[in-house]
Amino acid sequence: MSGVRCGPGGSVRADAAEWDIRPPRTGLDGQVLALLGAVYSRLSWAGARGPADTLLGRAVAEAAAILPEAASGSISQEGARRPEPPVVLAAYSPGGALAGMVAANRDHKASSAGDARSVLVFVPWSPVVDPELDAERREQVALALILGALNRDDLCGQATGDGAVPVESARYAMRFTSADEAEAHRMIAWYRRAGFVSPCERVIMSRPLDQQSDSADPPAEPGDESFVPIDPTFAGDFGLAVSLLQGAFAEGDDPDAQKMARSGEACSRWLAAALAGERGGAYAHGLWLVARDASGSAMGFAFLLERGPTALHLADLGVLPEYRRRGLGGRLLREALRLGRRRGKSEITLVVVAPNQTALRLYERLGFRKATSLCAMEWARGQSGEL
Ligand SMILES: CC(C)(COP(=O)(O)OP(=O)(O)OC[C@H]1O[C@@H](n2cnc3c(N)ncnc32)[C@H](O)[C@@H]1OP(=O)(O)O)[C@@H](O)C(=O)NCCC(=O)NCCS
Repeated sequence: MSGVRCGPGGSVRADAAEWDIRPPRTGLDGQVLALLGAVYSRLSWAGARGPADTLLGRAVAEAAAILPEAASGSISQEGARRPEPPVVLAAYSPGGALAGMVAANRDHKASSAGDARSVLVFVPWSPVVDPELDAERREQVALALILGALNRDDLCGQATGDGAVPVESARYAMRFTSADEAEAHRMIAWYRRAGFVSPCERVIMSRPLDQQSDSADPPAEPGDESFVPIDPTFAGDFGLAVSLLQGAFAEGDDPDAQKMARSGEACSRWLAAALAGERGGAYAHGLWLVARDASGSAMGFAFLLERGPTALHLADLGVLPEYRRRGLGGRLLREALRLGRRRGKSEITLVVVAPNQTALRLYERLGFRKATSLCAMEWARGQSGEL
Protein backbone atom coordinates (compact mmCIF):
# COMPACT_ATOMS: atom_id res chain seq x y z
CA MET A 1 0.00 0.00 0.00
CA SER A 2 2.45 2.59 -1.16
CA GLY A 3 2.07 6.11 0.07
CA VAL A 4 -0.44 5.44 2.85
CA ARG A 5 0.76 4.52 6.33
CA CYS A 6 -0.96 4.47 9.68
CA GLY A 7 0.88 6.06 12.56
CA PRO A 8 0.25 5.93 16.29
CA GLY A 9 -2.99 7.53 17.41
CA GLY A 10 -4.65 6.84 14.07
CA SER A 11 -2.98 9.54 12.02
CA VAL A 12 -2.46 8.35 8.47
CA ARG A 13 0.28 9.63 6.26
CA ALA A 14 -0.53 9.64 2.56
CA ASP A 15 2.50 10.83 0.58
CA ALA A 16 3.15 14.50 1.23
CA ALA A 17 -0.08 15.22 3.02
CA GLU A 18 -0.81 14.12 6.54
CA TRP A 19 -4.46 13.58 7.30
CA ASP A 20 -5.63 13.47 10.83
CA ILE A 21 -8.10 10.60 11.01
CA ARG A 22 -10.39 10.82 14.02
CA PRO A 23 -14.04 10.94 15.00
CA PRO A 24 -15.65 14.26 13.98
CA ARG A 25 -14.79 16.95 16.50
CA THR A 26 -18.27 17.46 17.87
CA GLY A 27 -20.06 14.37 16.70
CA LEU A 28 -21.88 14.84 13.42
CA ASP A 29 -21.30 18.56 13.31
CA GLY A 30 -22.39 21.06 10.68
CA GLN A 31 -19.20 20.67 8.62
CA VAL A 32 -19.77 16.93 8.24
CA LEU A 33 -23.40 17.38 7.27
CA ALA A 34 -22.45 20.06 4.72
CA LEU A 35 -19.88 17.70 3.18
CA LEU A 36 -22.41 14.83 3.02
CA GLY A 37 -24.93 17.16 1.39
CA ALA A 38 -22.39 18.47 -1.14
CA VAL A 39 -21.28 14.99 -2.23
CA TYR A 40 -24.62 13.18 -2.14
CA SER A 41 -26.44 15.95 -4.04
CA ARG A 42 -24.29 15.02 -7.08
CA LEU A 43 -25.69 11.50 -7.11
CA SER A 44 -28.99 10.30 -8.47
CA TRP A 45 -29.03 7.55 -5.80
CA ALA A 46 -32.50 7.62 -4.16
CA GLY A 47 -31.06 7.80 -0.63
CA ALA A 48 -29.34 11.08 -1.50
CA ARG A 49 -32.62 12.99 -1.49
CA GLY A 50 -34.02 14.63 1.60
CA PRO A 51 -32.70 16.53 4.60
CA ALA A 52 -28.91 16.40 5.19
CA ASP A 53 -29.16 15.25 8.80
CA THR A 54 -30.80 11.97 7.76
CA LEU A 55 -28.50 11.22 4.79
CA LEU A 56 -26.12 9.10 6.81
CA GLY A 57 -28.98 7.12 8.34
CA ARG A 58 -30.29 6.31 4.89
CA ALA A 59 -26.86 5.14 3.72
CA VAL A 60 -26.54 2.91 6.82
CA ALA A 61 -29.99 1.41 6.14
CA GLU A 62 -28.97 0.78 2.54
CA ALA A 63 -25.87 -1.12 3.68
CA ALA A 64 -28.00 -3.46 5.80
CA ALA A 65 -30.52 -3.89 2.99
CA ILE A 66 -28.20 -4.69 0.12
CA LEU A 67 -25.52 -6.87 1.69
CA PRO A 68 -27.52 -10.12 1.63
CA GLU A 69 -28.69 -9.60 -1.94
CA ALA A 70 -25.31 -8.38 -3.18
CA ALA A 71 -23.76 -11.54 -1.80
CA SER A 72 -26.31 -13.95 -3.26
CA GLY A 73 -27.19 -12.12 -6.45
CA SER A 74 -30.88 -12.48 -5.72
CA ILE A 75 -33.31 -9.62 -5.36
CA SER A 76 -34.68 -9.35 -1.90
CA GLN A 77 -38.12 -8.08 -1.04
CA GLU A 78 -37.58 -8.69 2.62
CA GLY A 79 -37.20 -5.85 5.10
CA ALA A 80 -33.64 -5.01 6.04
CA ARG A 81 -32.13 -5.86 9.40
CA ARG A 82 -32.19 -2.90 11.71
CA PRO A 83 -28.80 -1.22 11.41
CA GLU A 84 -26.70 -0.12 14.38
CA PRO A 85 -25.58 3.48 14.70
CA PRO A 86 -22.53 3.97 12.51
CA VAL A 87 -18.95 4.58 13.51
CA VAL A 88 -17.85 7.80 11.84
CA LEU A 89 -14.29 8.90 11.15
CA ALA A 90 -13.31 12.22 9.64
CA ALA A 91 -10.11 13.26 7.84
CA TYR A 92 -8.73 16.68 8.71
CA SER A 93 -6.00 18.42 6.75
CA PRO A 94 -2.96 19.81 8.66
CA GLY A 95 -4.76 23.17 8.57
CA GLY A 96 -7.77 21.60 10.30
CA ALA A 97 -10.13 21.61 7.32
CA LEU A 98 -12.51 18.68 6.93
CA ALA A 99 -11.42 16.71 3.83
CA GLY A 100 -13.63 13.64 4.09
CA MET A 101 -15.42 11.14 6.27
CA VAL A 102 -16.19 7.46 6.31
CA ALA A 103 -19.03 5.60 8.00
CA ALA A 104 -19.17 1.94 8.91
CA ASN A 105 -21.16 -0.20 11.28
CA ARG A 106 -20.61 -3.51 12.93
CA ASP A 107 -22.40 -6.56 11.64
CA HIS A 108 -24.79 -7.89 14.33
CA LYS A 109 -24.13 -11.53 13.52
CA ALA A 110 -20.42 -11.39 14.21
CA SER A 111 -20.66 -9.75 17.61
CA SER A 112 -22.07 -12.52 19.80
CA ALA A 113 -20.77 -12.67 23.38
CA GLY A 114 -18.26 -15.44 22.73
CA ASP A 115 -16.99 -13.89 19.53
CA ALA A 116 -14.92 -10.83 20.26
CA ARG A 117 -14.13 -10.18 16.63
CA SER A 118 -15.85 -7.61 14.56
CA VAL A 119 -16.98 -7.31 10.97
CA LEU A 120 -17.06 -3.71 9.80
CA VAL A 121 -19.71 -2.96 7.20
CA PHE A 122 -18.77 0.18 5.30
CA VAL A 123 -21.69 2.32 4.27
CA PRO A 124 -22.45 2.71 0.53
CA TRP A 125 -21.33 6.03 -0.99
CA SER A 126 -18.74 6.42 1.74
CA PRO A 127 -15.96 7.61 2.05
CA VAL A 128 -17.40 11.00 1.30
CA VAL A 129 -14.50 13.15 0.13
CA ASP A 130 -14.34 16.88 -0.56
CA PRO A 131 -15.26 17.16 -4.27
CA GLU A 132 -13.04 20.24 -4.61
CA LEU A 133 -9.86 18.17 -4.12
CA ASP A 134 -8.15 16.78 -7.22
CA ALA A 135 -8.54 13.08 -8.05
CA GLU A 136 -5.19 12.07 -6.57
CA ARG A 137 -5.83 13.80 -3.25
CA ARG A 138 -9.40 12.46 -3.12
CA GLU A 139 -7.98 8.96 -3.42
CA GLN A 140 -5.38 9.66 -0.71
CA VAL A 141 -8.07 10.87 1.68
CA ALA A 142 -10.36 7.94 0.83
CA LEU A 143 -7.60 5.38 1.42
CA ALA A 144 -6.53 7.06 4.64
CA LEU A 145 -10.12 6.88 5.89
CA ILE A 146 -10.75 3.26 4.88
CA LEU A 147 -7.42 2.02 6.24
CA GLY A 148 -7.85 4.21 9.32
CA ALA A 149 -11.22 2.58 10.08
CA LEU A 150 -9.83 -0.92 9.60
CA ASN A 151 -6.97 -0.20 11.99
CA ARG A 152 -8.77 1.66 14.75
CA ASP A 153 -9.98 -1.26 16.87
CA ASP A 154 -11.14 1.11 19.56
CA LEU A 155 -13.80 2.45 17.21
CA CYS A 156 -15.62 -0.83 17.03
CA GLY A 157 -17.02 -0.51 20.49
CA GLN A 158 -17.82 3.17 19.96
CA ALA A 159 -21.38 2.76 18.76
CA THR A 160 -22.47 0.08 21.21
CA GLY A 161 -20.27 0.91 24.17
CA ASP A 162 -18.86 -2.64 24.48
CA GLY A 163 -15.24 -1.57 24.32
CA ALA A 164 -12.45 -2.38 21.91
CA VAL A 165 -13.09 -5.22 19.47
CA PRO A 166 -10.51 -6.03 16.81
CA VAL A 167 -11.72 -5.77 13.25
CA GLU A 168 -11.22 -9.14 11.63
CA SER A 169 -12.99 -8.59 8.36
CA ALA A 170 -14.91 -5.94 6.52
CA ARG A 171 -17.45 -5.65 3.74
CA TYR A 172 -18.50 -3.00 1.33
CA ALA A 173 -21.51 -3.30 -0.95
CA MET A 174 -23.11 -0.78 -3.20
CA ARG A 175 -26.02 -0.63 -5.58
CA PHE A 176 -26.00 1.91 -8.37
CA THR A 177 -27.67 2.87 -11.61
CA SER A 178 -25.87 3.82 -14.81
CA ALA A 179 -26.30 7.52 -13.86
CA ASP A 180 -23.94 7.01 -10.90
CA GLU A 181 -21.74 4.37 -12.52
CA ALA A 182 -18.60 6.50 -12.88
CA GLU A 183 -18.65 7.61 -9.23
CA ALA A 184 -19.47 4.06 -8.08
CA HIS A 185 -16.53 2.63 -10.02
CA ARG A 186 -14.24 5.27 -8.49
CA MET A 187 -15.29 4.15 -5.00
CA ILE A 188 -14.96 0.47 -5.88
CA ALA A 189 -11.40 1.24 -7.07
CA TRP A 190 -10.61 2.91 -3.71
CA TYR A 191 -11.73 -0.20 -1.82
CA ARG A 192 -9.76 -2.41 -4.21
CA ARG A 193 -6.65 -0.36 -3.50
CA ALA A 194 -7.31 -0.79 0.22
CA GLY A 195 -7.18 -4.59 -0.30
CA PHE A 196 -10.86 -5.43 -0.68
CA VAL A 197 -11.63 -8.18 -3.15
CA SER A 198 -14.87 -8.85 -4.93
CA PRO A 199 -16.55 -11.49 -6.98
CA CYS A 200 -18.03 -10.17 -10.20
CA GLU A 201 -20.21 -7.11 -10.31
CA ARG A 202 -23.81 -8.17 -10.89
CA VAL A 203 -26.23 -6.39 -13.15
CA ILE A 204 -29.96 -6.54 -12.48
CA MET A 205 -32.00 -6.24 -15.65
CA SER A 206 -35.72 -6.08 -16.25
CA ARG A 207 -38.26 -5.59 -18.99
CA PRO A 208 -42.01 -5.16 -19.05
CA LEU A 209 -44.23 -7.87 -20.47
CA ASP A 210 -47.01 -5.60 -21.75
CA GLN A 211 -48.40 -5.61 -25.28
CA GLN A 212 -46.51 -2.51 -26.40
CA SER A 213 -43.06 -3.78 -25.46
CA ASP A 214 -43.89 -7.24 -26.84
CA SER A 215 -44.67 -5.86 -30.28
CA ALA A 216 -41.15 -4.37 -30.32
CA ASP A 217 -39.57 -7.85 -30.04
CA PRO A 218 -37.58 -8.72 -33.15
CA PRO A 219 -39.12 -11.75 -34.95
CA ALA A 220 -37.57 -15.09 -34.00
CA GLU A 221 -36.00 -17.47 -36.53
CA PRO A 222 -37.92 -20.71 -36.09
CA GLY A 223 -36.04 -23.71 -34.62
CA ASP A 224 -36.93 -27.40 -34.72
CA GLU A 225 -36.72 -27.90 -30.95
CA SER A 226 -39.59 -28.34 -28.55
CA PHE A 227 -39.86 -26.71 -25.13
CA VAL A 228 -40.90 -29.16 -22.46
CA PRO A 229 -41.74 -28.15 -18.88
CA ILE A 230 -40.13 -30.28 -16.15
CA ASP A 231 -40.59 -30.23 -12.39
CA PRO A 232 -37.26 -30.54 -10.51
CA THR A 233 -39.08 -30.98 -7.21
CA PHE A 234 -39.39 -34.62 -8.43
CA ALA A 235 -36.21 -36.67 -8.15
CA GLY A 236 -35.96 -37.65 -11.85
CA ASP A 237 -36.32 -34.11 -13.11
CA PHE A 238 -34.01 -32.79 -10.37
CA GLY A 239 -31.18 -34.95 -11.76
CA LEU A 240 -31.79 -33.69 -15.30
CA ALA A 241 -31.87 -30.06 -14.09
CA VAL A 242 -28.56 -30.50 -12.22
CA SER A 243 -26.85 -32.08 -15.23
CA LEU A 244 -28.06 -29.21 -17.47
CA LEU A 245 -26.82 -26.61 -14.98
CA GLN A 246 -23.44 -28.32 -14.81
CA GLY A 247 -23.18 -28.76 -18.57
CA ALA A 248 -24.12 -25.19 -19.46
CA PHE A 249 -22.16 -23.37 -16.77
CA ALA A 250 -18.95 -25.39 -17.05
CA GLU A 251 -18.19 -23.30 -20.16
CA GLY A 252 -19.26 -19.68 -20.12
CA ASP A 253 -18.37 -16.14 -19.10
CA ASP A 254 -19.53 -16.36 -15.49
CA PRO A 255 -16.53 -17.30 -13.30
CA ASP A 256 -18.65 -17.77 -10.15
CA ALA A 257 -21.04 -20.15 -11.92
CA GLN A 258 -18.12 -21.96 -13.55
CA LYS A 259 -16.69 -22.67 -10.12
CA MET A 260 -20.05 -24.06 -8.96
CA ALA A 261 -20.41 -26.20 -12.10
CA ARG A 262 -17.27 -28.18 -11.24
CA SER A 263 -19.23 -30.01 -8.57
CA GLY A 264 -22.56 -31.78 -9.03
CA GLU A 265 -23.08 -31.47 -5.30
CA ALA A 266 -22.68 -27.67 -5.38
CA CYS A 267 -25.17 -27.45 -8.28
CA SER A 268 -27.63 -29.65 -6.36
CA ARG A 269 -27.33 -27.43 -3.29
CA TRP A 270 -27.81 -24.28 -5.37
CA LEU A 271 -30.89 -25.71 -7.11
CA ALA A 272 -32.43 -27.02 -3.88
CA ALA A 273 -31.97 -23.62 -2.22
CA ALA A 274 -33.41 -21.79 -5.25
CA LEU A 275 -36.45 -24.08 -5.37
CA ALA A 276 -36.99 -23.66 -1.63
CA GLY A 277 -37.11 -19.90 -2.13
CA GLU A 278 -34.02 -19.39 0.01
CA ARG A 279 -32.30 -16.98 -2.36
CA GLY A 280 -33.69 -13.75 -0.96
CA GLY A 281 -36.80 -15.44 0.36
CA ALA A 282 -38.94 -13.63 -2.19
CA TYR A 283 -39.64 -16.36 -4.72
CA ALA A 284 -42.08 -19.20 -5.13
CA HIS A 285 -43.04 -21.76 -7.78
CA GLY A 286 -40.04 -22.72 -9.87
CA LEU A 287 -40.78 -23.27 -13.57
CA TRP A 288 -38.32 -25.16 -15.72
CA LEU A 289 -38.41 -25.36 -19.49
CA VAL A 290 -36.11 -27.80 -21.30
CA ALA A 291 -35.34 -27.39 -25.02
CA ARG A 292 -35.18 -30.84 -26.69
CA ASP A 293 -34.16 -31.71 -30.23
CA ALA A 294 -36.19 -34.03 -32.52
CA SER A 295 -34.56 -37.11 -30.93
CA GLY A 296 -35.46 -35.91 -27.42
CA SER A 297 -31.93 -34.85 -26.35
CA ALA A 298 -31.88 -31.95 -23.93
CA MET A 299 -30.00 -28.94 -25.38
CA GLY A 300 -30.73 -26.09 -22.99
CA PHE A 301 -33.05 -24.74 -20.32
CA ALA A 302 -34.70 -21.72 -18.77
CA PHE A 303 -35.33 -21.66 -15.02
CA LEU A 304 -37.99 -19.19 -13.93
CA LEU A 305 -39.27 -18.24 -10.52
CA GLU A 306 -42.48 -16.42 -9.72
CA ARG A 307 -41.80 -13.19 -7.83
CA GLY A 308 -45.07 -12.19 -6.26
CA PRO A 309 -48.27 -11.89 -8.29
CA THR A 310 -46.95 -9.64 -11.07
CA ALA A 311 -43.30 -10.49 -11.73
CA LEU A 312 -41.30 -13.40 -13.06
CA HIS A 313 -37.57 -13.83 -12.39
CA LEU A 314 -35.27 -15.61 -14.82
CA ALA A 315 -33.09 -17.47 -12.31
CA ASP A 316 -30.99 -19.10 -15.04
CA LEU A 317 -30.74 -19.68 -18.74
CA GLY A 318 -28.29 -22.10 -20.30
CA VAL A 319 -27.49 -23.81 -23.58
CA LEU A 320 -25.09 -26.77 -23.71
CA PRO A 321 -21.85 -25.70 -25.46
CA GLU A 322 -22.38 -27.88 -28.56
CA TYR A 323 -25.74 -26.21 -29.33
CA ARG A 324 -24.67 -22.58 -28.88
CA ARG A 325 -24.64 -19.75 -31.44
CA ARG A 326 -27.64 -21.09 -33.36
CA GLY A 327 -30.23 -18.80 -31.81
CA LEU A 328 -31.42 -21.34 -29.24
CA GLY A 329 -30.70 -19.04 -26.25
CA GLY A 330 -32.84 -16.35 -27.89
CA ARG A 331 -35.68 -18.78 -28.60
CA LEU A 332 -35.59 -20.08 -25.00
CA LEU A 333 -35.78 -16.53 -23.74
CA ARG A 334 -38.75 -15.73 -26.03
CA GLU A 335 -40.48 -18.87 -24.73
CA ALA A 336 -39.89 -17.61 -21.17
CA LEU A 337 -41.44 -14.23 -22.08
CA ARG A 338 -44.47 -16.00 -23.60
CA LEU A 339 -44.84 -18.08 -20.46
CA GLY A 340 -44.76 -14.95 -18.30
CA ARG A 341 -47.46 -13.32 -20.42
CA ARG A 342 -49.64 -16.43 -20.28
CA ARG A 343 -49.40 -16.28 -16.50
CA GLY A 344 -50.51 -12.65 -16.51
CA LYS A 345 -47.13 -11.23 -15.38
CA SER A 346 -46.28 -7.65 -16.20
CA GLU A 347 -42.50 -7.71 -15.58
CA ILE A 348 -39.54 -10.07 -15.87
CA THR A 349 -36.23 -9.57 -14.03
CA LEU A 350 -32.85 -11.31 -14.05
CA VAL A 351 -29.34 -10.97 -12.58
CA VAL A 352 -26.25 -11.42 -14.75
CA VAL A 353 -22.57 -10.95 -13.89
CA ALA A 354 -20.97 -8.01 -15.69
CA PRO A 355 -18.28 -10.07 -17.53
CA ASN A 356 -20.95 -12.30 -19.12
CA GLN A 357 -21.15 -10.14 -22.23
CA THR A 358 -22.71 -12.88 -24.43
CA ALA A 359 -25.67 -13.15 -22.07
CA LEU A 360 -25.88 -9.36 -21.57
CA ARG A 361 -26.05 -8.80 -25.34
CA LEU A 362 -28.72 -11.49 -25.69
CA TYR A 363 -30.84 -9.92 -22.95
CA GLU A 364 -30.47 -6.44 -24.42
CA ARG A 365 -31.47 -7.72 -27.87
CA LEU A 366 -34.66 -9.05 -26.32
CA GLY A 367 -35.60 -5.77 -24.67
CA PHE A 368 -34.07 -6.12 -21.19
CA ARG A 369 -32.55 -2.96 -19.75
CA LYS A 370 -30.11 -2.48 -16.86
CA ALA A 371 -32.03 -1.53 -13.72
CA THR A 372 -29.21 -1.45 -11.15
CA SER A 373 -25.77 -2.92 -10.60
CA LEU A 374 -24.56 -4.51 -7.38
CA CYS A 375 -21.00 -4.89 -6.17
CA ALA A 376 -20.06 -6.62 -2.92
CA MET A 377 -16.46 -6.55 -1.66
CA GLU A 378 -14.68 -8.21 1.25
CA TRP A 379 -11.52 -7.60 3.25
CA ALA A 380 -9.97 -10.02 5.73
CA ARG A 381 -7.19 -9.27 8.19
CA GLY A 382 -4.03 -11.14 7.35
CA GLN A 383 -4.67 -10.89 3.66
CA SER A 384 -3.79 -8.02 1.33
CA GLY A 385 -4.53 -4.43 2.15
CA GLU A 386 -3.51 -4.50 5.77
CA LEU A 387 -1.25 -1.83 7.05
C1 LIG B 1 -25.74 -17.19 -22.82
C2 LIG B 1 -26.18 -18.43 -23.61
C3 LIG B 1 -27.46 -18.97 -22.96
C4 LIG B 1 -26.46 -18.05 -25.06
O1 LIG B 1 -26.96 -19.19 -25.74
P1 LIG B 1 -26.91 -19.31 -27.34
O2 LIG B 1 -27.83 -20.41 -27.74
O3 LIG B 1 -25.53 -19.37 -27.83
O4 LIG B 1 -27.57 -17.89 -27.75
P2 LIG B 1 -27.86 -17.32 -29.21
O5 LIG B 1 -27.42 -18.34 -30.24
O6 LIG B 1 -29.28 -16.90 -29.24
O7 LIG B 1 -26.95 -16.04 -29.25
C5 LIG B 1 -25.55 -16.12 -28.97
C6 LIG B 1 -24.74 -15.53 -30.14
O8 LIG B 1 -24.85 -16.35 -31.29
C7 LIG B 1 -25.24 -15.56 -32.42
N1 LIG B 1 -26.04 -16.41 -33.30
C8 LIG B 1 -27.35 -16.71 -33.18
N2 LIG B 1 -27.72 -17.51 -34.21
C9 LIG B 1 -26.62 -17.72 -34.96
C10 LIG B 1 -26.36 -18.45 -36.15
N3 LIG B 1 -27.33 -19.14 -36.73
N4 LIG B 1 -25.11 -18.43 -36.61
C11 LIG B 1 -24.13 -17.75 -36.01
N5 LIG B 1 -24.31 -17.03 -34.89
C12 LIG B 1 -25.54 -17.01 -34.37
C13 LIG B 1 -26.03 -14.43 -31.79
O9 LIG B 1 -26.10 -13.32 -32.64
C14 LIG B 1 -25.22 -14.15 -30.56
O10 LIG B 1 -24.07 -13.41 -30.93
P3 LIG B 1 -23.30 -12.38 -29.97
O11 LIG B 1 -22.78 -13.18 -28.79
O12 LIG B 1 -22.21 -11.83 -30.81
O13 LIG B 1 -24.31 -11.37 -29.52
C15 LIG B 1 -25.06 -19.52 -23.63
O14 LIG B 1 -23.87 -18.94 -24.08
C16 LIG B 1 -24.80 -20.17 -22.28
O15 LIG B 1 -25.47 -21.14 -21.90
N6 LIG B 1 -23.79 -19.66 -21.53
C17 LIG B 1 -23.42 -20.23 -20.24
C18 LIG B 1 -24.53 -20.03 -19.22
C19 LIG B 1 -24.84 -18.56 -19.01
O16 LIG B 1 -23.96 -17.75 -18.88
N7 LIG B 1 -26.15 -18.24 -18.92
C20 LIG B 1 -26.61 -16.89 -18.62
C21 LIG B 1 -26.80 -16.76 -17.15
S1 LIG B 1 -27.42 -15.18 -16.69
